[in-house]
Amino acid sequence: MSQVQAPVVTVDGPGGSGKGTVTQMLARELGWHLLDSGALYRLTALAAIRQGVALDDESALVDVAATLDVSFEPTPPGEPAKVILAGEDVTSEIRTEICGDNASRVAVMQPVRDALLQRQRDFRQAPGLVADGRDMGTVVFPDAPVKIFLTASAEERARRRYNQLKEAGVDVNMSALLEEIRVRDERDMNRSAAPLKPADDAQVIDSTGLSIKEVLDRCMAAVSQA
Ligand code: C5P
Repeated sequence: MSQVQAPVVTVDGPGGSGKGTVTQMLARELGWHLLDSGALYRLTALAAIRQGVALDDESALVDVAATLDVSFEPTPPGEPAKVILAGEDVTSEIRTEICGDNASRVAVMQPVRDALLQRQRDFRQAPGLVADGRDMGTVVFPDAPVKIFLTASAEERARRRYNQLKEAGVDVNMSALLEEIRVRDERDMNRSAAPLKPADDAQVIDSTGLSIKEVLDRCMAAVSQA
């Protein structure tokens, strides 16, 4: 008997393209589950540091990724899920720039990616899934009926991140932030393991100059046309 798979909308793109906010809104609007795959790479980096594992020790990192003791606890609609690592709430800790940078270092390793693959696919459950990441449409859910690739200029992404951090009371330097974004993009796009790029059948949406509502409307239109 063939099993019908739950539908998936994949949303890939660089950091700061608005993916996080848009995927949360999209999941809420559709009443579907949400996979924040970046959180799994961030958690792998954080757990490694806590366990004293060096970020270039590939085989130890594979163990860390394969045995991550993580749960995502539901929060009120529109808020990011609470992320619990080994019983501790690390929701804010995994959002720091340093954790994002460490995540992108461990994410270049194919065996680490392999160790996280099934955990990501397990999120595909009825009534459907919105999957946020870099390789959702190319590697993790290549058969997804709707694939979106969300971009924005590096300057716009740095500006958004700057405002987010300012609001959170974090003191940041705009040019340092722009440089960090460029370095991370470079690493994500040029790695050999699942590089950041649109799937051949992805719809590319450039969110530069668009409001979140406009981006959400375009994503919803893509879903309803599928
Ligand atoms: O999306 P987020 O900023 O949380 O991702 C952190 C890092 O994790 C990215 O810079 C990228 O290197 C890596 N990542 C990945 N594949 C994904 C999601 C994130 O390689 N599907």
